Amino acid sequence: MNFDIKRTGRAVLHVTDLEKSKEFYESLGLIETESDDENVFYRAIEDHNHHCLWLRKMPEAAVEVISYRVDSEGDLDRLADFFETEGTEVIWMEKGMQPAIGRTLRVQDVSGIPCEYYCEMDKVERMLQRFDVHVGAKVQRIDHFNCAVPDVQKAYDYYIDKLGFACSEYTTTKGSDEVWAAWLHRKPGVHDTAFMNSIGPRLHHIGFWLKDPMSLIDGCDYLAAKGLAPTIERGPGRHGLSNAFFLYLRDPDGHRIELYNGDYYTGDSDFDPVEWDLDDPQRQTFWGHEAPDSWFEEASTFLNVYTGEKVETEQPKLDKRKPNTII
Ligand SMILES: [Fe+2]
Repeated sequence: MNFDIKRTGRAVLHVTDLEKSKEFYESLGLIETESDDENVFYRAIEDHNHHCLWLRKMPEAAVEVISYRVDSEGDLDRLADFFETEGTEVIWMEKGMQPAIGRTLRVQDVSGIPCEYYCEMDKVERMLQRFDVHVGAKVQRIDHFNCAVPDVQKAYDYYIDKLGFACSEYTTTKGSDEVWAAWLHRKPGVHDTAFMNSIGPRLHHIGFWLKDPMSLIDGCDYLAAKGLAPTIERGPGRHGLSNAFFLYLRDPDGHRIELYNGDYYTGDSDFDPVEWDLDDPQRQTFWGHEAPDSWFEEASTFLNVYTGEKVETEQPKLDKRKPNTII
């Protein structure tokens, strides 16, 4: 491939009550860059660009697009050529069509996920050492997307072979080499995107990186003190897979957010992907406790980049959706 995708960049979420959403996201420590009655743009504390999360007030909650940053404007042109060669329709959104971002290209990916690629975004003050405005979990940067897809092998093959992602960790089922879930990266961490076998395509969660586990505990305390403890769905805990110290939350519209710390460097060319068995009790939670059913069953709806309609979902190719865990 002749293009360079750098990393997870931003997400555009549709939310139904901007004030409720603002209370939730600001309690995590995201910092508002700009807002009006219909929109709010958030950046995390190390961001030097305008936003990593754009909330748009809409009648129905949905995920408009998940976005990856590429290295140069030329990479965008070459990526567009690649998609067209593959027979994938490309939608260009020229600079000025969306606030604070340069031109972007949007496609519906091989799993039906609305994906966007961009290079340029407005520069803003970086808040890393503005300790006077750090609150809650002090979210430091956007880290990854996790998507439920009906055919993980298909998504895995496309992202590895066609888009140049590498695999850090993956899950199979006993006696089979079929991939049940995969963690894929462009930046040298555990992942920029992960795919899990489930009804899909749907967005399972957006992961945000924190500087340490204590920030995650601070986030729980801050949420609880604000009366937002019911937004906590799962955790805190330690994933076996990825080694992440984690917390899962649901925003007021049910979009799932993960706060995350503790993954590791994956940039060496001889790094061997780590295989996990689906039924290994330490895969999901290293300490062995079970995830709630909602975590396996519920996820956000994607919108089609070409029509704006909800993306139809399919049943997963592999039967087993919930691992056997030991409490
Ligand atoms: Fe995650």
